[in-house]
Parts: sequence; C-alpha cells; structure tokens
Amino acid sequence: MADYIGAVDQGTTSTRFMIFDHTGNEVAKHQLEHAQILPRSGWVEHDPVEIWERTNSVMQNALRYGGLSGTDLHAIGITNQRETTVVWDPRDGRPYYNAIVWQDTRTDAIAAALERSGRGDVIRRKAGLPPATYFSGGKIQWILENVDGVREAAEQGHALFGNTDAWVLWNLTGGPDGGIHATDVTNASRTMLMDLETLDWDEELLGFFGIPRAMLPAIHPSSHAQAYGVTRSSRPLRAAVPIGGVLGDQQAATVGQVCFSPGEAKNTYGTGNFLVLNTGTELVRSQHGLLTTVAYRFGDEPVVYALEGSIAVTGSAVQWLRDQMKVIKTAAESEELARTVEDNGGMYFVPAFSGLFAPYWRSDARGAIVGLARYNDNAHLARATLEAICYQSRDVVEAMEQDSGVHLDVLKVDGGVTANDLCMQIQADVLNVPVSRPVVAETTALGAAYAAGLATGFWQDTDELRTHWQESKRWEPAWSDEQRAEGYAGWKRAVERTLEWVQV
Ligand code: G3P
Repeated sequence: MADYIGAVDQGTTSTRFMIFDHTGNEVAKHQLEHAQILPRSGWVEHDPVEIWERTNSVMQNALRYGGLSGTDLHAIGITNQRETTVVWDPRDGRPYYNAIVWQDTRTDAIAAALERSGRGDVIRRKAGLPPATYFSGGKIQWILENVDGVREAAEQGHALFGNTDAWVLWNLTGGPDGGIHATDVTNASRTMLMDLETLDWDEELLGFFGIPRAMLPAIHPSSHAQAYGVTRSSRPLRAAVPIGGVLGDQQAATVGQVCFSPGEAKNTYGTGNFLVLNTGTELVRSQHGLLTTVAYRFGDEPVVYALEGSIAVTGSAVQWLRDQMKVIKTAAESEELARTVEDNGGMYFVPAFSGLFAPYWRSDARGAIVGLARYNDNAHLARATLEAICYQSRDVVEAMEQDSGVHLDVLKVDGGVTANDLCMQIQADVLNVPVSRPVVAETTALGAAYAAGLATGFWQDTDELRTHWQESKRWEPAWSDEQRAEGYAGWKRAVERTLEWVQV
C-alpha cells in the first residue's frame, strides 16, 4: 500500500495540495492564491482556468517538496469552497463565464422574487436553505439568462454546471477526454436544488430556477471507492491515483475535527466563519436562521446531517483593513494593533459586505461602523474587527443552542484566524465557553484526506481517526458576566442600526 493520502483544498482565496501520512500528520504542502475579480460592487468572480492551473501547480509542487511521486499516493480527496458556480463546455473544457463566487450578491432580485412568490418556503422545506444570493441555484439561473448561448447549449447537453469540486474532478479525470461529471451530497446540499431527504436533484426546485437537469453532476456519497474514478496519468500527478473523497470545505473541516457524534461542533475561521453542528441521521429544521445541510455520507452508510451557521465576512474583514483601508500591512498586525487598546472604545463594526448571513439572512444589508467618537483610532477599529468575528459567532452559537438544545461545553476551532491569539481569547470571553484548537490546524484538507482514506481502506473507521485528534491550545473565558452582557448588547444594537439603514 502506498504510504500517503493527498488532498486538494480549492478555497475562496487559494488552492492547496496537502499530503498526509498514516497518523494524519502533514508531510508536504503547497498553496497558491488566485485573483479575486471584483467587476462591480457586490460582484465577486474567479477565473476557473486559473483555478485549474493553480491546482496543477500545487499538486506537482507539493509532491516535489515532499520528495514523492504520484505513485506514493494511496488515494486523494477533493474539498472546495462551496456554492461558487462554474458552467463550462464539455467539448473543450472552456468556461462560459467566470465562476460566480458564493459571496457575490448579484442574484439579490432572484432571491427576493422567490421569497415574494412563496417558493422560498418550498426551498426551505426541501433543500433546508432560505432563498439567498449565497447558494448556487440563482447563480446558475443568472448565467443561463445573461450569458449568450448558454441556455441553448445547456439544453443540448453542451453546458455543465459544477461547484469547484466538480470542475477540478472533471479536469483531473480527463477533462474533454472522458472527465467524470460528479459531485457529493454535501456540495449538492448547497445549491437549493437537492431534496435533503431523497438526496437527489428535485424537479420542482429545478423548475423554480429554469435549470435543465442535463447540466447537473451525478450526486455521490462524500467517501466512495469507485464513484469519482482515478486521476489521468497525463494530468498533474502523472499516475492513476484513486479519488476516494469529495466534500465541501466546511463539511471536510467537520470530518477533520472528528465531529462524528451528534452534538459535536466545530467553527472554522477563514474568509468567513462556518459553525457546523453534527445532528446525526436526524434532519433538524432550524427555527432560528441556521441552515439544515448534509454533514457527510460515507459509502453506503446513512447520511449524517448538520445545522450550520454561515457568516460571510470574518477573516476577509481583516483583509479589508489591510488591502482597502491600509490600516495594517499584514493580517498578523491586526492583533498587535488591537492589543494597544483595552477595549473597542465604544466602537462596533458590522462587516456586512455580502449582506448578513446567519442568523439574519439579509442579502440587502451592507457594512456599518457605529459608536464613533473623536477619541477612536485605528487600534479601536482593529479591535472592533476582531470582536465582530467573535460576536457574529456568538449570534450563530445562540441560534444553534436554541435550535438543537445542545449547549456547547467547548468550541473546537480551526482556520487561519485561529493564529490570532487575541481573537481566540475574545471568542472565549464573548461566548463564556472555552475555545480549543487542534495540533493539525489544516482540518479542511485533513477531512478530505480522511474521506478518501476511509473509502480506500487506508484508515479502518472513524474510531481510528479520533485517535489522531490532539489539542494544541485552549483559551478560557476571562470576562465578567456584566462585561459580556454589555458588550453583546452593544453588538446587537449595532446590527439593528445596520439593518435600519438599509430600509431608509
Ligand atoms: O460556503 C463558503 C465556504 O465553503 C468558503 O470557505 O474557506 O473557502 O472561505 P473558504
């Protein structure tokens, strides 16, 4: 048996390839960013060809850095930014349009019309999602209606839809020369097109968006030995390596954090924040603004569901401080700067750049900074940005506790922002719950590797995977109850002001 498992993590800002050994430790990795294309306010696109080129490079480079070749890989998994929509021509592999990214709000009118017509409730009931710009259905509809020739091409079988998992999978398995057009249940559960109970595309939902079924990939379990085929030896790995796992990045992180039992949850701090609670084989319908979604499905085992609190802007608010406002030069400086003040000086920042996601679901919201006084400076802004990450997470934790009755004893965290010690301390303070980070912080890639390794016998079962998880750091709450209540009340007022402004 080859000794390693690889994982492609095709994320919002970058693509990485990671190689893990049998104990789940990292052996080699490489990562490359791709361009964020921002043609208008609220629009966010990626170039799918650039993403595929980056995928090639990171796979080849990671192997080289590890002194390995494709034949050393027992299998690979694929994980991805979810919802981001690619439509391409299978005859030559050319995208008809740039990928429309999950953060893009151009489909606001489509989402609003679904709500007005009462179809929103059907989508909530069948797909577990509120009609919102976030999900793929409206993005596919927009391409069909706005890009010349795509509707006709789709009706003739010359246009395929995929999230970036399907795009990468199709290319790795041969592209125009017989590439496999497939996705997994977790990605499909983010389209507004799949019925959560049948785990199949739903004709009524497809009708709402006018999407021909022929465009859609086959839906398979997240971990499967045959469904996703093998890599073509003419492609970056230069070997026929089985693809054993495909799953959305937040579900992959849930697997990487070994949240295999109902009641276990993780919070990933990336571009946005995504808190996922395993609800087992039970489909819990949220009454408090969370998404009902698929956590994973391993082979023929029953599907496992989750409640998810998705927050659009967390780490990207720190990037905004750096790139747009030039308040800091590196993301790490946000911590240094915020540490120079005791508190937020009365200032709150609601970074609703892509509207507000969970639990508010207001696509029309836009960002606001409130409570400004002459006294405030950049340090308060940095502090308010870190607090916004933590308060938004508190909003979804509260919704999750109300929906599920589960009270968190500890919050398992991962993702880039968890390197920010002050932010994690504020998170424990704001929640009054200890925050715990594992040794392997790359839980997303690890989860995809786990899915591939379970399918192909590299790992036996989830109990074996649990033995790999180790804590590296824990933050204990330190604020008084009064401080916590006052701080959160201020945040809630700031969110109200943001929403009031939109209505004016
Ligand atoms: O739903 C969007 C999410 O999957 C994006 O995650 O880590 O690529 O920002 P990330």
